[in-house]
Amino acid sequence: MWAPRHIKDGVDISDRSYDEKVCDVLVLGAGGAGLRAAIESHDRGAKTLVVCKSLLGKAHTVMAEGGIAAALGNVDPKDSWEVHFSDTIVEGQHLSNWRMAEIFAKEAIERVYELERYGAVFDRTPEGKISQRAFGAHTYRRLCNIGDRTGLELIRTLQDQLIARGVPFMDEVMTTCVFRESKTGRAAGAFGIDIKTGRLLLFRAKAVILATGGSGRVYQVTSNSYESTGDGIGMAYRAGAELMDMEMIQFHPTGMIYPPGVRGMLVTEAVRGEGGILTNSNGERFMSKYDPKRMELSARDVVARSIYAEIMAGRGSKGGGVYLDISHRGADYIKKKLPSMYDQFLAFADIDITKDKMEVAPTVHYQMGGVRVDPETAETSVKMLFAAGEVASGLHGANRLGGNSLSDILVFGKRAGAAAAERAAAIDLPSVDGGEIEDEISRVLSPFSSVGGANPFHMKEEIASNMWMHVGIVRKAEDLEAGLAELERLREEAKGLKAVGGRAYNQSWTDSLQVLDMLTVCEAMIRSALERKESRGAHTRSDFPAKDPKWLVNIITVQENGKMVRRMVPVPAPPPELQNLIKEDD
Ligand code: FUM
Repeated sequence: MWAPRHIKDGVDISDRSYDEKVCDVLVLGAGGAGLRAAIESHDRGAKTLVVCKSLLGKAHTVMAEGGIAAALGNVDPKDSWEVHFSDTIVEGQHLSNWRMAEIFAKEAIERVYELERYGAVFDRTPEGKISQRAFGAHTYRRLCNIGDRTGLELIRTLQDQLIARGVPFMDEVMTTCVFRESKTGRAAGAFGIDIKTGRLLLFRAKAVILATGGSGRVYQVTSNSYESTGDGIGMAYRAGAELMDMEMIQFHPTGMIYPPGVRGMLVTEAVRGEGGILTNSNGERFMSKYDPKRMELSARDVVARSIYAEIMAGRGSKGGGVYLDISHRGADYIKKKLPSMYDQFLAFADIDITKDKMEVAPTVHYQMGGVRVDPETAETSVKMLFAAGEVASGLHGANRLGGNSLSDILVFGKRAGAAAAERAAAIDLPSVDGGEIEDEISRVLSPFSSVGGANPFHMKEEIASNMWMHVGIVRKAEDLEAGLAELERLREEAKGLKAVGGRAYNQSWTDSLQVLDMLTVCEAMIRSALERKESRGAHTRSDFPAKDPKWLVNIITVQENGKMVRRMVPVPAPPPELQNLIKEDD
């Protein structure tokens, strides 16, 4: 049927009409944090709606493969929440919020048992308890696991619970902003695009929970899936919420390095937890130089830096990484404990890990920084806007322990859902200013009328290569300044971002909008990295190589009068009874 050129796939590209959805609690994101928040909110009687950018169940949560950390003490009976608390604070290099770490270490245990009751099929000890494996820098074997598919099982289990409860969800919907009520300043809803049809959507809600994950995709080499573009952080920032510790980006020590199409794909820490050995091109087990006590099971920041140092010193593997070998554990053991790793290397790299070494190198995996939240409720500095999971900050400080993210999303997902539902029950539906809706529609549709020719897909690549080149494992002022200058150039280029084609399933459109938030996220990362003139955890400065007690501060980033500003706040000191629990590494 004939249609004018500007009408494609049924929706006129200039159509400003929108559909309206109303709920009590709007959950943005359907990874582990979003799902757990939605279950809680629904169970507490709030009319809850889940909206996610991708398909339900497709989230970075699945990339926490090796396990969920909780001090069950099933394998090492001496383990306790107190030791888990101490490990989290010490390995976070004392940048974590002590109250978040306390809540987390205590409640992670019950969240794991709850997940089991929900139907997760954990691996078992010979006595039938949930099995727990070793992971880097955890004092005890603490990671409850389902082989090397723990995150996937967690997602599937929570998804089943959501669907069984009949909680409504809308997938393939990209949210573009969070609205605030002008009278009260509270979050009042969100705006979005139905990716399938290109229709615009207004969500009105009494509470909004951000569970949108991190922004690993601002880097060229990453384990993150395509969804992790930092939209939630960008939306929170634009809504006036405070961000915290944006310089803290975790490089997982082991990602695949070839073939090029899978570069960065995660090689789970469970390989080292099950006895995997790292060697350089001279066959040396090099971790003995960097952490002779913990070796391959040192903290992630230490192992990643050690691998980087070996590669930079010319002792890398043929493919430009280092070697990781688990073959000594035998084929049956490997296939039972690490089935995904076995399949992944065979399918993608034609390597049988029961016989041959893997080649690995660091890959961007997680963001410790994000939206600042209240430890009890997960509320951000904007009233009735909550954040849980990787989008939030505060728990992991300068370095996250492996397996702590899965328990984080359950503990704080539940808390966010509970607080949002309870508070929502006490208020009326806030209003959204009509002028703000019209402004957002203009912003969202602007890539269709752009006269510039900037290709959003290419811009994403340029952003990612800039971050990889200038804001890597080891940083220095000169590189960071160069990264910032390039970012400013890219921001100019982004004024001409152009969407081509119609409105349905239009990646050039959604990419154009993502690029804008990616630029904001990167700017916050680089400026905070320049600010922190010391080396702490994942943030290593070659020009400031020592850890400096005067930098025991959280760096807050916020938008004021349209400008990105920062301020330092001292990390709150734990009360004496908790301080006494903290045991430094020997
Ligand atoms: O290596 C891994 O399995 C990742 C776990 C995590 O990031 O928590």
